[in-house]
Amino acid sequence: MDILDKTKTKLDKNGIWVTNVSLLEEESVSQSAWEKIYNYDLKKLVSNRESFNKDKLADHIVYIDDSYKFTSQTNYLEIGCGPAYIGEYLMKTHNCYFIGVDFNYPMLLTLKKYFNTKGYKKYLLIYADINDMPIKNNTIDYIYGGGVIEHLPDTNHIVEELYRVLRRGGVAFNTVPAFSLWWITRCFNNIPSLKGIRKIFEFMHLKLLKGRILEKYYGYELSFTVNNLRNLHKKSGFCDIKIGAFAFHPSTNKLKNVLLRNLYYKTQTSIFTTAMYFVSAKK
Ligand SMILES: C[S@@+](CC[C@H](N)C(=O)[O-])C[C@H]1O[C@@H](n2cnc3c(N)ncnc32)[C@H](O)[C@@H]1O
Repeated sequence: MDILDKTKTKLDKNGIWVTNVSLLEEESVSQSAWEKIYNYDLKKLVSNRESFNKDKLADHIVYIDDSYKFTSQTNYLEIGCGPAYIGEYLMKTHNCYFIGVDFNYPMLLTLKKYFNTKGYKKYLLIYADINDMPIKNNTIDYIYGGGVIEHLPDTNHIVEELYRVLRRGGVAFNTVPAFSLWWITRCFNNIPSLKGIRKIFEFMHLKLLKGRILEKYYGYELSFTVNNLRNLHKKSGFCDIKIGAFAFHPSTNKLKNVLLRNLYYKTQTSIFTTAMYFVSAKK
């Protein structure tokens, strides 16, 4: 598979492709948050995967299946793959070639152990900053970033990087926090990507609080309006841009009551009250 730029990455003794990573201040805050969130050994990975598959997978797949026709020839790239829930689904269901990139090395190591137990063969795991992936131009058919591009301060650059690695006709599908009414519940740990306001929030979180609150939650994290997302993708050259509410049920561990679960889900289906937007765009 001629996807990797081997001048930038080397296979290590654990079977992971390792790249030099030098992070911006905002990204370091995110890295330390995600190393805590995804501090999984094999047992924890398996049990969290079971709970994701039970409560959330079907909701995610509705959007993903709607955005691309997957085959065994599809090169599927998951940026910020973490436990690669969607990656495993696509390998199992469509026999896609899976490429997972993350800057959480211990998580990649656990994922590798899990893939070994399952006997998967068609995959690459890459330790890298997704701002600068050791992946050749025009080699990828589909990119999924589930809650990832909001952790990078230069969103223009990351969207351009996605465009660079995609083949013509390929699709980038990302989900990001929405600057909707739901944002009120996130006002203490999320930064709206809006002129003026963004600078104030960044100053408060990074300079005054030294990233302490962000690190306790999801790291440096932006939220976007529908217009933000459309402009970002248009600027990088994408076409067929579709944006909407990204609705999925909460995990039963967090919310058991059926009535409340359905109520929550209902709020997530409107662009005015959802927590997350999806954006799907074609090169
Ligand atoms: C919300 S999780 C997404 C996990 C997975 N996509 C899912 O849907 O379960 C965000 C992931 O992005 C990774 N990440 C964030 N910023 C990154 C960067 N600059 N380079 C590489 N990975 C990054 C984190 O380590 C984390 O695993």
